[in-house]
Amino acid sequence: MPSDYDIFAGADVLVTGGLGFIGSALARQLVGIGAKVTLVDSLIPEYGGNLFNIQDIRDRVTVDLTDVRDVAAMSSLIKKRRFLFNLAGQTSHLDSMTDPVTDLNINAAAQLHILEACRLHNPDLKIVFASTRQVYGRPEYLPVDEKHPVNPIDVNGINKLAGEWYHLLYNDVYRIRACALRLTNTYGPGMRVKDARQTFLGIWIRRLIEQKPIQIFGDGKQGRDFNFVTDVVDALLRTAASDDANGQIFNLGHSEQISLNELAALLVKLNGNGNFELVPFPDDRQAIDIGDYYADFRKIDKSLGWTPKVVLEEGLKQTLEYYRVNRTHYWD
Ligand SMILES: NC(=O)c1ccc[n+]([C@@H]2O[C@H](COP(=O)([O-])OP(=O)(O)OC[C@H]3O[C@@H](n4cnc5c(N)ncnc54)[C@H](O)[C@@H]3O)[C@@H](O)[C@H]2O)c1
Repeated sequence: MPSDYDIFAGADVLVTGGLGFIGSALARQLVGIGAKVTLVDSLIPEYGGNLFNIQDIRDRVTVDLTDVRDVAAMSSLIKKRRFLFNLAGQTSHLDSMTDPVTDLNINAAAQLHILEACRLHNPDLKIVFASTRQVYGRPEYLPVDEKHPVNPIDVNGINKLAGEWYHLLYNDVYRIRACALRLTNTYGPGMRVKDARQTFLGIWIRRLIEQKPIQIFGDGKQGRDFNFVTDVVDALLRTAASDDANGQIFNLGHSEQISLNELAALLVKLNGNGNFELVPFPDDRQAIDIGDYYADFRKIDKSLGWTPKVVLEEGLKQTLEYYRVNRTHYWD
C-alpha cells in the first residue's frame, strides 16, 4: 500500500455511487486504511448499485440512499468532508440515446449542483471525478493520449465531458481542488452483469456462467484495454492524495491490448468450458460503437507513479470465480 494513502486515515470521505461497482471497491480500500466513509447512492433498480457489493464492510460505512439530483440533500452531505469521490452516474450508452434528459440531469446538471454546493459550503475539499474514455469518440490514432481531440459519439459521452469540464473549471476558477480520471473498460467483482445495457463484458460473464454462448457483435476484431477494479481504486486514491493532480485529466489503461475474439477465447479457456459466436451488430449499437480503443496512460505513470498491476488473465479468473459463487445476488 503506498504511503500516500496515510492521508485517508481518519479522513471524512464521501463517495457518490458508493453502492456501485467501483465505488464499493473504493469503499473497501478506504475503510481498510481507516477512513470515515459515507456512501451516497440512489439504488435506481436498472443501474449498477447493489447492497451486496458492501456486505463485507456494511457495518464500517455509512450508507445514505440519496439521489445526487437532490440539491438540498447533497449540499448537506458535502459539508465537512475532506474528500469527495464523485462516481455516481448513468452509465449506459444505449440508455443515454433513448432517455437523453435523464443522462443529462445525472451526468451533467447534478455535477454542477454538487460543485456549487462545494463552492458555497466546503471549498477546501478535494474531488476526484470518474470520467470515461468515451469522450474521445472513435480514435483518430492509437494509443489515445490526453491530447487526443474529444469527439463524443453518444449523449452519455457529451454529458460526461460536461461533468468532467465543470470539475476542471471549478478547480481553475474557484481553486476547489478537482481532477478527472478517464477510465477505460473496468472489470472485476461487483461489476454490473445482469443485462447487456452496460458493458459487454458483464453480460459475457453472465452468459458463460449460465452456459450460453457469448455473443460478439461484428467481426470481433475490435481492440480494447481493460483495468481490474483494484487498479482503478489505486488511481482514484493516488489522484485524491496528490496536489499535483489538481486541474488534471488522466487516462487509465493497460499495456495488454486484446481483440474481442481473443478476449472471448480467453474467458472460455479460464471458465473450463463455453463457446462464443459472432452476431451482426445491432443498428443502435453500431451507431455508437467506437471501434478500436486503447489508452496511452504514461501521463499518470509519470506524474503519480500509477501503472496497472493486475494482468487480464488473473483479473478475469477472480471475476469469474466471484460470479460463480455469488450469482444469486446479481441476477438469479
Ligand atoms: N466501469 C467502467 O468500465 C467505467 C468506464 C468509464 C467510466 N466509468 C465511470 O465510473 C463511475 C462508476 O462506474 P461503475 O462501473 O462503478 O458503475 P455502477 O453503475 O456500478 O455505479 C454507479 C453507481 O451510481 C449510482 N447512481 C446512478 N445514478 C445516481 C443518482 N442519480 N444518484 C445517486 N446515485 C446514483 C448507481 O446506483 C450505481 O451504484 C461512473 O461515473 C462511470 O461513468 C466506469
